[in-house]
Amino acid sequence: MMLREAVLKTLKQKQGHWVSGGALSQELGVSRTTVWKYIKSLQAEGYTVEASPKKGYRLTIRPDILSGLEVQPELNTTLFGREHYFYFKEMESTNDYAKILATRNYPEGTTVVAECQTAGRGRRGRAWFSLPGKGIYVSVILRPALPLNQLSRVTPAMAVAVADALHQLGLKPGIKWPNDILVNGRKIAGILTEAVTDMDGIEYIVVGIGVNVNYRLEDFPKEFRQSATSARIELKCTVPRLPLLQELLLRVEQRYQQMLTGGVAAIMEEFRRLSTVIGKDIVLDGLQGITSGRAIDIDNNGFLMVRDAEGNIHHVMSGEIFVKEPPEEQL
Ligand code: BTN
Repeated sequence: MMLREAVLKTLKQKQGHWVSGGALSQELGVSRTTVWKYIKSLQAEGYTVEASPKKGYRLTIRPDILSGLEVQPELNTTLFGREHYFYFKEMESTNDYAKILATRNYPEGTTVVAECQTAGRGRRGRAWFSLPGKGIYVSVILRPALPLNQLSRVTPAMAVAVADALHQLGLKPGIKWPNDILVNGRKIAGILTEAVTDMDGIEYIVVGIGVNVNYRLEDFPKEFRQSATSARIELKCTVPRLPLLQELLLRVEQRYQQMLTGGVAAIMEEFRRLSTVIGKDIVLDGLQGITSGRAIDIDNNGFLMVRDAEGNIHHVMSGEIFVKEPPEEQL
């Protein structure tokens, strides 16, 4: 255990009570000056450690921060976020950083987390709003031994995993194909899957997940206030991000493993069950341009099946859909 970790562990065990500098330095076998150095670094990370010349040190409030020191001890995954966990107070985009790590051969399960992003990215070149401490911004490296034609199964598995984690919080999430997670019709989380492939198959995939946790409506820019929501808005209370991130990493790992070990049909069944678009009339902005029709199903590769006005069925791999609301008299 690293020294800083050991200082934190002792302070946590005695949370709310004073621990003398002398006791800490003896327990850890370092000087009081070294103890003080670690205390300062914990304070800089956001821990509220009081210091008194007579009494020593006292950890008061345990902050909701997503550092490895906080996340890893109670993480129930076997691989994800375990060995390689990168944490930043601020980062341009966790997906961009994870892509750099992937090119440096970091293994599957490598996880990048930031408290805030200055250039968070969404799908289709959009920005992902990433205020400090209000959301979860996480990216994970995957290296599946899958043929290229099964790549499209990854995002649905991840979308179901995010929905699983939100369900655990007491929310009722839905999935707007392909990967928007909605609660009460508003977006609470999004997934950005970026893959690098070659002739032999998939080199790596970076899955980036953004969850709106403690945003208030007024935190969102005006243009999102109609369409976005957060766990706090829906549950009407502040939601600790730490256990949510731990749950999220666990669910992501479990659904990913399930997808690789013959569980695609079960994942897709859940994906369909949670779908907010099946049976709806939609307009689709996809690779083949704009199509409109009825979303009738999702196939086992995660493709949306759209029936057009002529009765032709299209299997659509990606795109953005706009659900047409039925005219008033049908409501
Ligand atoms: C979308 O719905 O358009 C996808 C949003 C994905 C946002 C996450 S936040 C963590 C990761 N880093 C990024 O820059 N984007 C993803």
